[in-house]
Amino acid sequence: MTRAISLHHVSKSYTRGVRVVDRLSLDIAPGELLVLLGPSGCGKSTVLRMIAGLEEITDGELLLDGEYANDLPPSDREMAMVFQNFALYPNMTSRGNIGFPLRIERPGEDPAPRVDATARMLGIEALLDRYPRQLSGGERQRVAMGRAIVRKPTAFLMDEPLSNLDAKLRNHLRAEISTLTRKLGVTTVYVTHDQAEAMSLGDRVAVLRGGVLQQVGTPRSVYALPRNVFVAAFIGTPRINLLRGLVRAPLDGAMSISLGRQYLRLPEPLSLDHQMLRVQQGREVIVGLRSEAIRIAGPAAARPGEVPIGGLVEHVEYQGHEVLVHFSTGSQPAVVPDLEAPTPVRTLRHRREGTVLNRIRERAGALRGGPTVVLDRPHDVEPDRPAPAAQESRLPGDLVVRTTPDIELRHGMRVPLLVDLGHLFVFDQHGERVSPLPARQPDLGD
Ligand SMILES: Nc1ncnc2c1ncn2[C@@H]1O[C@H](COP(=O)(O)OP(=O)(O)OP(=O)(O)O)[C@@H](O)[C@H]1O
Ligand SMILES: [Mg+2]
Repeated sequence: MTRAISLHHVSKSYTRGVRVVDRLSLDIAPGELLVLLGPSGCGKSTVLRMIAGLEEITDGELLLDGEYANDLPPSDREMAMVFQNFALYPNMTSRGNIGFPLRIERPGEDPAPRVDATARMLGIEALLDRYPRQLSGGERQRVAMGRAIVRKPTAFLMDEPLSNLDAKLRNHLRAEISTLTRKLGVTTVYVTHDQAEAMSLGDRVAVLRGGVLQQVGTPRSVYALPRNVFVAAFIGTPRINLLRGLVRAPLDGAMSISLGRQYLRLPEPLSLDHQMLRVQQGREVIVGLRSEAIRIAGPAAARPGEVPIGGLVEHVEYQGHEVLVHFSTGSQPAVVPDLEAPTPVRTLRHRREGTVLNRIRERAGALRGGPTVVLDRPHDVEPDRPAPAAQESRLPGDLVVRTTPDIELRHGMRVPLLVDLGHLFVFDQHGERVSPLPARQPDLGD
């Protein structure tokens, strides 16, 4: 039997007053594969361990099939966990490893039929008599999966189970996990910091930042309508272009968004989303443009909804089937903190400021869902340190455009670009999406 897992305002504090998971509410349906996604340290493993019963819940409720389960011992939850550092017993064969939980749980029963059936399902029958040292990393991980599923758990909890493997094997096992959990129909919570993994695997993806849930939805909906600038920046490769802009809505003229030296003129008649931007008049906003929202073409080729800008080629990244071109457009990138694990710069600043209290205060601030964007950072950066924007993007330019390899581009060329404003995102100063309108439902066309 598979389980419904619900978290209601669940919090976790290791240190008084600091919540590493902050009032998390999630309903996971029976048989669903939900991915918990977020940068290092955002609380993913802690959530998983609370569901497993390995970590006490400080506040809030965990319900399993609608029953209060905060105090249920881990063994009564009948869940199986698979970790990143899966440990197999080195002195047991694969058969011994897979059968181990059965021998503990049901002594006297012959584990062989269940072990054989499990091995068949995972395609590892030929490996059953080998010891872990005689297996490759991927094979070992499959044996570890076998050990997890042999007991027919009511839920799988997987904590970055593939992160120790090389990229190709990871893709392969990812597909296997997806097929397997669907075949078994077992509710699965899968933790990863890899957005591509989350998008390809999950029925739904829950994005966490500093212990706070940012958004939960299907992979398509979180990509198409990210609720805030953090989700927009965390999901999708290459990373979405985020530029600082200023909304101009003169009473007697066309509406536009200024991007430093250039501007995007909003096409008339204004769409409802663009009309609603009028309230941002004179305010700084963040413009989000995914690389597919921009193409290399002159103004004459513009389709309805496309507006021209110009870019200077700074860097060309060949990827074989496509090319990523980094342009300078004279705009300023917006900085989104916490996308990666805390940087050494932050640590240094903590040290300089000294006290533990300061550190805790700063952390607590960051965790209480602090702003998802920093619009004033460039001014308070010390002169001897590169601006955070430069650190974050690492590559020159402020706009990345995806194109086909047949276009010849060289560093220093000036190139006309067309921006499709049908794919424009606008976020306010706090990083919340204001266009498309927050209430808009994704049009998934299916
Ligand atoms: N036992 C503990 N005592 C104190 N703090 C802890 C403990 N375990 C985790 N933390 C802190 O809680 C926060 C969340 O940790 P957690 O392991 O859940 O993050 P994560 O999202 O799984 O990160 P990663 O992707 O690096 O595995 C971190 O700041 C971590 O330092
Ligand atoms: Mg973790």
